[in-house]
Amino acid sequence: MNKVICIDGPAGSGKSTTARAVADGTGVLFVDSGALYRIMTWQALKAGVPTDDPAAVAAFAPNVKVEFAVRGNRVAYLVDGREPGDLIRTPEINANVSPVSAVPEVRAIVTGWLRKLPELGDIVVEGRDIGSVVYPDSKCRFYLDCDPDERARRRQKEDAGKGFVQTTEQVKASLLNRDKIDSSRKTAPLKVPEGAIRIDTTRLSVAEVVAKILDASGIAAK
Ligand code: DC
Repeated sequence: MNKVICIDGPAGSGKSTTARAVADGTGVLFVDSGALYRIMTWQALKAGVPTDDPAAVAAFAPNVKVEFAVRGNRVAYLVDGREPGDLIRTPEINANVSPVSAVPEVRAIVTGWLRKLPELGDIVVEGRDIGSVVYPDSKCRFYLDCDPDERARRRQKEDAGKGFVQTTEQVKASLLNRDKIDSSRKTAPLKVPEGAIRIDTTRLSVAEVVAKILDASGIAAK
């Protein structure tokens, strides 16, 4: 079986940047699990499904079809033959993705998709339940944490680059709200997986976090 590096943590803790950098430095494929929950949310909103109605979301979820393709160092998701890009990164999706991802039927479908991906190669997967639920047997599991003010600053800068203008305070409120829903949901809540290595990224550079992960995973940089 191919190697699976699991990186969990709250929004803005640096999971995505770190996982991409791990992929770039090693040839391991980058997998963004949150994007799959965002695709579910996007499709549900497009179909007019009320995202605050778990039964309606559960009934709709099996209709969502995603194809998986290797593009460079990452696994790309195609919906109707196309990558959704920033259409799944809007404030509207941010506001609706936590209730959608709390629906057990949605989680079962996304977990099933994710468990097939090691067929494509060694992967580094970032998310909320990757080391705790999706691949609990992986030997390389990490939990990234970071001070909420620093997380909000990072996310605000990232979102501004995509043209979404919000204050740092608005971004912080949205992050903390999602943390609360993600950590308190019944199915696969965000938590430190048992046995995972915890890394506080508040004062670390991306290179320092990547070095810790590669070292602990026994993976050599290219
Ligand atoms: O990482 P992100 O912000 O793109 O994730 C979007 C949402 O998806 C997040 O609020 C929680 C959910 N999510 C999840 O429940 N489990 C995962 N493995 C990844 C994301």
